[in-house]
Amino acid sequence: MLVVAALLGALGVAAAPINQANFTYVHVPGTVPLNGLEPLQQRLSYVNSTAMFVSWNTYASLNSSEATVVYGTDPFNLKYTAHAESLTYNTSRTWNHHALLTELKPKTDYWYRVAYTNCYACTNIPTYKFTTARAPGDESPYSVAVVIDLGTMGADGLSDHYGPYITGSHHIPWKKDESNTIQSMIQNLDTYDAVLHPGDIAYSDYFIKQSVQGYFGTSNASVIVNKTAVAEGYEILLEEFYDQMQPITAVKPYMVTAGNHEANCDNGGTSDSRNNITYGLDICMPGQYNFTGFINHWRMPGNPTEANRNFWYSYDDGMVHVVFFDTETDLGGNFTGPDEPGGFYGEDSGPFGTYKNEQIDWLKKDLAAVDRKKTPWVIAMGHRPWYVSGTNVSSTVCLECQQAFEPIFVEYGVDLIMQGHVHAYQRNKPMANYYVDPNGLNNPSSPLTILNGAGGHYDGLDTLLNATQWSAYQNDQLYGWSRITFHNRTHMTHQFIASGNSTVIDEVTLYKEHK
Ligand SMILES: *[C@@H]1O[C@H](CO)[C@@H](O)[C@H](O)[C@H]1NC(C)=O
Ligand SMILES: *[C@@H]1O[C@H](CO)[C@@H](O)[C@H](O)[C@H]1NC(C)=O
Ligand SMILES: *[C@@H]1O[C@H](CO)[C@@H](O)[C@H](O)[C@H]1NC(C)=O
Ligand SMILES: *[C@@H]1O[C@H](CO)[C@@H](O)[C@H](O)[C@H]1NC(C)=O
Ligand SMILES: *[C@@H]1O[C@H](CO)[C@@H](O)[C@H](O)[C@H]1NC(C)=O
Ligand SMILES: *[C@@H]1O[C@H](CO)[C@@H](O)[C@H](O)[C@H]1NC(C)=O
Ligand SMILES: *[C@@H]1O[C@H](CO)[C@@H](O)[C@H](O)[C@H]1NC(C)=O
Ligand SMILES: *[C@@H]1O[C@H](CO)[C@@H](O)[C@H](O)[C@H]1NC(C)=O
Ligand SMILES: *[C@@H]1O[C@H](CO)[C@@H](O)[C@H](O)[C@H]1NC(C)=O
Ligand SMILES: *[C@@H]1O[C@H](CO)[C@@H](O)[C@H](O)[C@H]1NC(C)=O
Ligand SMILES: *[C@@H]1O[C@H](CO)[C@@H](O)[C@H](O)[C@H]1NC(C)=O
Ligand SMILES: *[C@@H]1O[C@H](CO)[C@@H](O)[C@H](O)[C@H]1NC(C)=O
Ligand SMILES: [Fe+2]
Repeated sequence: MLVVAALLGALGVAAAPINQANFTYVHVPGTVPLNGLEPLQQRLSYVNSTAMFVSWNTYASLNSSEATVVYGTDPFNLKYTAHAESLTYNTSRTWNHHALLTELKPKTDYWYRVAYTNCYACTNIPTYKFTTARAPGDESPYSVAVVIDLGTMGADGLSDHYGPYITGSHHIPWKKDESNTIQSMIQNLDTYDAVLHPGDIAYSDYFIKQSVQGYFGTSNASVIVNKTAVAEGYEILLEEFYDQMQPITAVKPYMVTAGNHEANCDNGGTSDSRNNITYGLDICMPGQYNFTGFINHWRMPGNPTEANRNFWYSYDDGMVHVVFFDTETDLGGNFTGPDEPGGFYGEDSGPFGTYKNEQIDWLKKDLAAVDRKKTPWVIAMGHRPWYVSGTNVSSTVCLECQQAFEPIFVEYGVDLIMQGHVHAYQRNKPMANYYVDPNGLNNPSSPLTILNGAGGHYDGLDTLLNATQWSAYQNDQLYGWSRITFHNRTHMTHQFIASGNSTVIDEVTLYKEHK
């Protein structure tokens, strides 16, 4: 029972088929709007300090002249126009539109509106404002938010209960009187300039697991799913998440790379032990594997002519060079990425490089070219971790990722690495190859590595084992997100923020001489 049916049920109305959300002019996340032209899921991403993508989705197709964005520095005179490419895929109910805005000024406010903002019965679509990235070398202080492993919140995702057929022990989920992570990030919109989300975005591939656990109803039809139900359920959960995030993504650049849950529709294979059914990749319809939705939905600043553009890339923002790397595929060398055919997750996805070592070659070249006079800070965002207390299991930590990436990050003096995948928070001491840096936070030569997979999704949080000697602080009881503040060339503060009441739970300042 997805959101519309749930809502009608709550209103005491007989459950209607999805698409009938015509009882309200407020767009309900995950529902088909009355007018298919209504622009939804507005989202921004940086290309560089003078270019930006504005993306949005509609339930009706638009041709290229219809798919436009008007924008300008004066909200009453949006004098520039950009046209968007429109993309969809087999199982999608929506069209993705991506408009590239160029020749912008750095660190400048722009207002924008996308096509059909004035359509009949369209809702909730004012003119939005964004601010471009700072030019490299601009030393003004700023903050960014980082969230990892964040899924749909509420009735179809993380809520105050699980499906009745759940097995095994899980953390008790969201508490009713507290904010969830999306709400906390919206409440704090004024405290950061962009959101970085390296992987596990929406958890729409949990549709099968949630169904099997009776979360959408306990009838046979709800519990035993078929291809059609999975195809539609997966898309609805994606749409619902994108709608829930829209108050953030419409006004703050939202930078992503892939996690394992973007790979396909089957969550690495889900078993229904009650009915003796194992769901494998064959339940996924064409268009719901090989990261298709992820590739269609987002526009990141990677090489525009290659499939890997959303997977590995970098950009500068003032004092900071930001790198996103892909732990799922394309680890280079002789490694098989965990999501690749033959990888231990069996997701049969990728690779996305035009040759085996493309990501690794790109990473070395990218880091070698950083001008530390302009961007003294270098931070790296990737999905899978390698330092997690008490675990050395390949499904939890990615030792191939460590071998592929860590020596490069150490060699080029990367200051901070952030990862998720394990649903908890753990801040490690600066370290390299298990060797704790004797300088600690006072000008270490090894990266500070922080795990924050505590965004939250249907399955709750993971349990960390006892802290190892290199874990400086860990917490597996709270949902949360991170805020990183770059004060100046030498000081950076990382905060772990509890979503429930938006308080700072853990805070450290890293000092780097950056000579
Ligand atoms: C809602 O949509 C259904 C199906 O299109 C239609 O029959 C019904 O009259 C609509 N209700 C309202 C209040 O517009
Ligand atoms: C920024 O990106 C745009 C779009 O790709 C490009 O035209 C422009 O040359 C880039 N600017 C710089 C300084 O790289
Ligand atoms: C796009 O659609 C509009 C109608 O909405 C039509 O007038 C126009 O000719 C179309 N343009 C192209 C390039 O197909
Ligand atoms: C499905 O229906 C069969 C036959 O009525 C019943 O034995 C079985 O328990 C049902 N399964 C579920 C999950 O409700
Ligand atoms: C597939 O599942 C949907 C939703 O439960 C149901 O309406 C439909 O009849 C099923 N289709 C088949 C072929 O069983
Ligand atoms: C479960 O299904 C498999 C085949 O899919 C079958 O071999 C096995 O006997 C079944 N187990 C039970 C307990 O029914
Ligand atoms: C759509 O499905 C067909 C086969 O049914 C497949 O050939 C095609 O590649 C699919 N398209 C996408 C975008 O997945
Ligand atoms: C891959 O393995 C082969 C054979 O073991 C070895 O010769 C080669 O150096 C390895 N390549 C890399 C990039 O590690
Ligand atoms: C996934 O997509 C990439 C890029 O289009 C392609 O090179 C690769 O072969 C695909 N992998 C699978 C298993 O379909
Ligand atoms: C964790 O630490 C506690 C308290 O020091 C100890 O009792 C427990 O045995 C430890 N557990 C493991 C798995 O090491
Ligand atoms: C950099 O910022 C830190 C933290 O705010 C401050 O203590 C330090 O004095 C600043 N350094 C300079 C050179 O301004
Ligand atoms: C905020 O939440 C944290 C974590 O649950 C808790 O420790 C703290 O007491 C709360 N603070 C307030 C002011 O409610
Ligand atoms: Fe993950």
